[in-house]
Amino acid sequence: MMDEKQLIREAAEARKNSYAPYSKYHVGAALLTKDGRIYRGCNVENAAFTPGNCAERTAVFKAVSEGVKEFEAIAVVGGPEEGDTGYAYPCGVCRQVMMEFTDPETFRIITGSGEDDYSVHTLKELLPFGFGPANLKEPS
Ligand code: THU
Repeated sequence: MMDEKQLIREAAEARKNSYAPYSKYHVGAALLTKDGRIYRGCNVENAAFTPGNCAERTAVFKAVSEGVKEFEAIAVVGGPEEGDTGYAYPCGVCRQVMMEFTDPETFRIITGSGEDDYSVHTLKELLPFGFGPANLKEPS
């Protein structure tokens, strides 16, 4: 299985493409698929502000648009342009998007400043009692 440290390194690489001239907060993500592929994403901001997209959703949408919908884990590295990267936890919208395609009990979210300093959580920890596709089929 792909090493968590390697996934963090991929996220740090993805961060280099971040387009964040407004917030100046640069984020990179690396999404590991069940068949061992990695989709990178970065945040992409916009002069009109609301069309901006987070790094995590960029990575998920890239994968889904290529027909890949089974995911193991995502690594996230974020921080201000001037300064260090810290623990960038996915926003609520990104957690909800992850809920659509993953098993929250096993999907892992890895965030940290780099490969020597990171945390690992399941989606269930970050989105308890989340609403997902199963809820449309039967009451929980
Ligand atoms: N952002 C992400 O890309 N991922 C996160 O986990 C947190 C926030 C982006 C959105 C926006 O471009 C900038 O960071 C500041 O919120």
